[in-house]
Formats: sequence, C-alpha cells, structure tokens
Amino acid sequence: MKRHEALQPFSRDHNVGLVLARRLSRADAEDPPGLKSLAQEVTAYWRGEMQDHFAEEERLLSPLASPESAQRLQREHAAISELLQRGEERLDAGELSTLGQLLDEHIRWEERGLFVEIEKNATPQQLQDLALATSLVEGKRARSPWAPRRGELMKRKQ
Ligand SMILES: [Fe+2]
Ligand SMILES: [Fe+2]
Repeated sequence: MKRHEALQPFSRDHNVGLVLARRLSRADAEDPPGLKSLAQEVTAYWRGEMQDHFAEEERLLSPLASPESAQRLQREHAAISELLQRGEERLDAGELSTLGQLLDEHIRWEERGLFVEIEKNATPQQLQDLALATSLVEGKRARSPWAPRRGELMKRKQ
C-alpha cells in the first residue's frame, strides 16, 4: 500500500536515516579517521534533524498509536538518543555499529508496523490534521542546519 501523504515527510526522513544506518552498521571496517568522521556526521545529523524527527513523531503520532506502539516509540527513541547524547568523541566502533542496528530496526518497525497501524486506525479528519502538521515539519527540514549535507550523504549512498 502506498504511504499516506500525511506520513510521507517522516518517510522521507527515513530514507536519509537508513543510508546513515547502513554506514554505521559497517563502522567496524573503518580506520580511526573514518570512525571519527562517522561519529561527527551522525552526531551532527542527530542535532540538526533526527532529534526533531523523534520529538515530532512522539508529539504527532503517539496520540494516534496504540498504547503499546506509543510506548515502543518512546523507548526506542530514548535508547538511540542515549547513545548520541554521549557526544561524538565518546562513540567507538562498537557503539556506532550498535547505533546503526538500532536505527535500522527502529525505522523498519515504524514503516512496517507503526505507520501501517496509524493508516488503518486514524480517522480521515485525523489524517488531514496530521498532513498539515507534517508539511510544517518538512518545511523545517528544508531550513535545517544539516540540510546542505543531506544531498552529499545521499550521493555517497554506499
Ligand atoms: Fe522514530
Ligand atoms: Fe521515524
């Protein structure tokens, strides 16, 4: 089924998150300068966009989700944020690859579980209100401090 337009701005963030997650999950193969730049990149992304993505998902999607899904959303965001809050200089190869795995699994659950649940259970009015709210989120992405790096990351996909 095609993703509802109200959720598409979050799904577009997920495309970026998945590329980053793939690179993080291969952190073991990086040399020290490569690890340093990976840690810097993911921390900058978290500060510039991911933190806001998490906050907006919790604000906008928790009220439309089952209590179990709302709890899982919050729990997984907290686990990922906890690692990132340590700061880039304290993320080693093991933590970076754990981060990649957590991020990948979290995004896949949202796309295949949470978003499908919301599309099925939300009323047309709720989806309409959500579409308006997520279009504002997308506007923020265009102006985010991290935006210039997005194109660069997507070009270097592999
Ligand atoms: Fe999320
Ligand atoms: Fe998400």
